[in-house]
Amino acid sequence: MRNILITGVSRGLGLEIVKSILEEEDTVVYGISRSKSQGLVNLMDQYPFRLKWMSYDLNDVDHVRARIFKDFIGIQTPIHGFVNNAAVAYDDIVTNLNYEPLLDMYKVNVFTPMFVTKYVIRHFLLHQVKGSIVHVSSISVHTGYKGLAMYASSKGALEAFSKNTAREWGEKGIRSNILVAGFMETDMSATLTEDQKNRIYKRTSMKTPTTTKSVAATIRFLLSDLSRSITGQNVYVDSGTI
Ligand SMILES: NC(=O)c1ccc[n+]([C@@H]2O[C@H](COP(=O)([O-])OP(=O)(O)OC[C@H]3O[C@@H](n4cnc5c(N)ncnc54)[C@H](OP(=O)(O)O)[C@@H]3O)[C@@H](O)[C@H]2O)c1
Repeated sequence: MRNILITGVSRGLGLEIVKSILEEEDTVVYGISRSKSQGLVNLMDQYPFRLKWMSYDLNDVDHVRARIFKDFIGIQTPIHGFVNNAAVAYDDIVTNLNYEPLLDMYKVNVFTPMFVTKYVIRHFLLHQVKGSIVHVSSISVHTGYKGLAMYASSKGALEAFSKNTAREWGEKGIRSNILVAGFMETDMSATLTEDQKNRIYKRTSMKTPTTTKSVAATIRFLLSDLSRSITGQNVYVDSGTI
């Protein structure tokens, strides 16, 4: 059995990643989010033994080891992959920047995921697993969008963290990659107007949103042994954004 830890599993891309990974019969998913959606409950009914879930607020940087690794997964259970998917977006123009919401976003998007990565790698080493880590980033890091400077900066931090993690742990067979996602129609992007969405689509080669299915399938590949020689990379699934 391969055990995969995924954050942000209640909806959007996270729920799609869980579905995709559970299609492989030798996998168990350890999923984290604050709330349980109907979609997640349905999946838990469908896979009562292979989908485990815990409520955890990723704003809490301090209890990662005790709650996630001791109580939820357990030290004796090997982990084979980690998907850092959960995130929040602090949208505003730079001249309106405030410290509190910036700090809150960095805790969820960057600080707690860094600590989860720390313990995931320790888990890999303890169980001698050549594990795979995938962080979900955003095309906004590479293109720029008005109002996304703070959010994109948090994803840029993850991209640097991933590249350096890959260099640091590659000799042990541990891999770290970034999935750079284009605009997807989820709750995170639901506040955009049709006009704003159309302007975003115009910047893609395909003139369409990116599908969560396509992103989830690529993450599944990056977690699998088929991608054994890929590490330290940014993999773009973005409908060809320019
Ligand atoms: N949507 C896009 O266009 C787009 C584009 C590029 C990249 N991305 C990235 O893709 C990933 C998934 O985004 P999405 O669009 O699926 O977002 P979403 O629909 O808003 O879902 C976010 C998920 O993260 C969880 N989450 C948020 N805050 C949390 C917290 N404090 N503690 C624990 N869990 C938390 C949410 O669960 P609870 O609310 O139940 O806690 C939810 O399951 C993110 O990394 C995002 O930055 C999105």
